[in-house]
Amino acid sequence: MIIANTVKDVRDVVKEWKRNGLTVGLVPTMGALHEGHASLVTAAAAGCDRVVASVFVNPTQFGEGEDLDSYPRDFERDCGILEERGCHMVFHPSVEEMYPEGYATYVNLESEMTKQLCGKSRPGHFRGVCSVVSKLFNIVDPDRAYFGEKDAQQLAVIKRMVKDMNFDIEIVGCPTVREDDGLAKSSRNSYLNERERAAATVLYRSMERAKAMTKEGVSDASQLLEAMRDVVSSEPLARIDYIEAVDGETLMPKEKLAAGDLVAMAVYIGSTRLIDNFTVGA
Ligand code: PAF
Repeated sequence: MIIANTVKDVRDVVKEWKRNGLTVGLVPTMGALHEGHASLVTAAAAGCDRVVASVFVNPTQFGEGEDLDSYPRDFERDCGILEERGCHMVFHPSVEEMYPEGYATYVNLESEMTKQLCGKSRPGHFRGVCSVVSKLFNIVDPDRAYFGEKDAQQLAVIKRMVKDMNFDIEIVGCPTVREDDGLAKSSRNSYLNERERAAATVLYRSMERAKAMTKEGVSDASQLLEAMRDVVSSEPLARIDYIEAVDGETLMPKEKLAAGDLVAMAVYIGSTRLIDNFTVGA
């Protein structure tokens, strides 16, 4: 596996691959890789001739007081996982390589989409995500890019951006990978102590309650959300940031839910903010 630290190195390799008619898949990550990321690399390796993964903790998507400095980093371990899953090149740039002095250009969706759900408590987050993902798209020039469905809002926002900016890239969403007890795999799970780890299953348990209700024919969003809030509130270590029901594409709130709509949540377990979601009818 090639380790590239500069934009030029990535471009030189990708140009050579493309000259040989090979297709390229991109898996953007911030490192601290887990089975969820590994499944994206597996999907990319199955769908493309060559796989590039980026490992870059992107400062522009973290707000003040968020965990930029403490975000888990273990590049050597990440490389082991990437190589094992069939990654051909990892792009591991410095902050200065991505944002050199004088850097001034950002990609921002002028839409209500980024103000919903996580956008309410993380203003500026999606501007940072869209900016860095656009840069990665321009640097790697992939045919396909792979993102996890756990970050459902990120996936919807990136699909919108790709359409709006005419990126000729297929965006592939991959299913959330879960622990045996249902907790969605996340790099931030490593922040949880033993008691918090046990409490964190409350997100999945609340979603299971809501899914069962939709299967019984309940489509009223307020009824479903109330049931989820009841489950989460029964856990003393949990504090709800949001639990909402929205249109799966536009992310605007829905009152009556239909197949394809999204029920999404962010809950603090202690000081760790976890997100999860399910798609109605999936
Ligand atoms: O999902 C993530 O890990 C990040 O938001 C991404 C897409 C790698 C951009 O920094």
